[in-house]
Amino acid sequence: MLVNLNDVLLPAQKGGYGVGLFNTINAELAAGVFAAAEAMRSPVIVGTAEVLLPFGGLEELSYLLLPMAKRASVPVVLHFDHGTTLEATVKAIELGFSSVMFDRSDRPFEENMKEVKELTDYAHKKGVTVEAELGHVGTGEDYGFMTDPDTAYEFVEKTKVDALAVSIGTVHGPYLKKPCLDVELLSKIRAQVDVPLVLHGGSGLSDEQFRECIKRGICKVNIFTDINKAAAKAAGTLYREGCGMTDLIPAMVAGVKEATEEKMKIFGSVGRC
Ligand code: 13P
Repeated sequence: MLVNLNDVLLPAQKGGYGVGLFNTINAELAAGVFAAAEAMRSPVIVGTAEVLLPFGGLEELSYLLLPMAKRASVPVVLHFDHGTTLEATVKAIELGFSSVMFDRSDRPFEENMKEVKELTDYAHKKGVTVEAELGHVGTGEDYGFMTDPDTAYEFVEKTKVDALAVSIGTVHGPYLKKPCLDVELLSKIRAQVDVPLVLHGGSGLSDEQFRECIKRGICKVNIFTDINKAAAKAAGTLYREGCGMTDLIPAMVAGVKEATEEKMKIFGSVGRC
């Protein structure tokens, strides 16, 4: 069934577990993620990100994901991750996404707060939940900047966001050096705000790092690189054996399902619905 972030993150916060967001770009990734959620009886957050739209258009993906979410026997949030333009973020809401991230984290604090508040006012009228980011999670060699815990309370109070993404040392995409997380900073942020916290850049973290972060207030963990690679690995293996698409497709779905299930087990979301 299609639900919003509050429906899955508030129980997760209460129960002390995390719910994964798995970004998708096509039918194989989507099928793998949904199959994992059904098999694991786990709530799931599925979607795409603005930076991924060249690989799968927003409108086309919404036609794929929305019926799948409605038909699923587990709670599914259809989430637009890292909306960096107002245009694409509003379009996602119009297309039926039940949740959006409006990411102005590369802007000065006041600007981030003002723009997110305007979007939240609009989204909440439509029953759509909103995530925003304070501090900035980088990608690859760009380490972004850490969240200032002293600004978190004002940001959440004024914007009325439903979930807050934090920057505590993770980066998006493959890690070029071993990730070192500032979990004390996470606890300081947690002490300032009571909304569910979000960890971006989940691929490449250790089981122990996930568990520690969830213990300290992370309720949503974002994953893309690991399932993207799982699909490619499955396809590559069979391609080298001379197989065609009809063999590659089920193998990619199975690879994504397995990688997604692994994460659900670590996050503790298995058997929650
Ligand atoms: P990874 O690709 O590193 O798993 O990060 C995903 C993410 O944070 C999407 O917002």
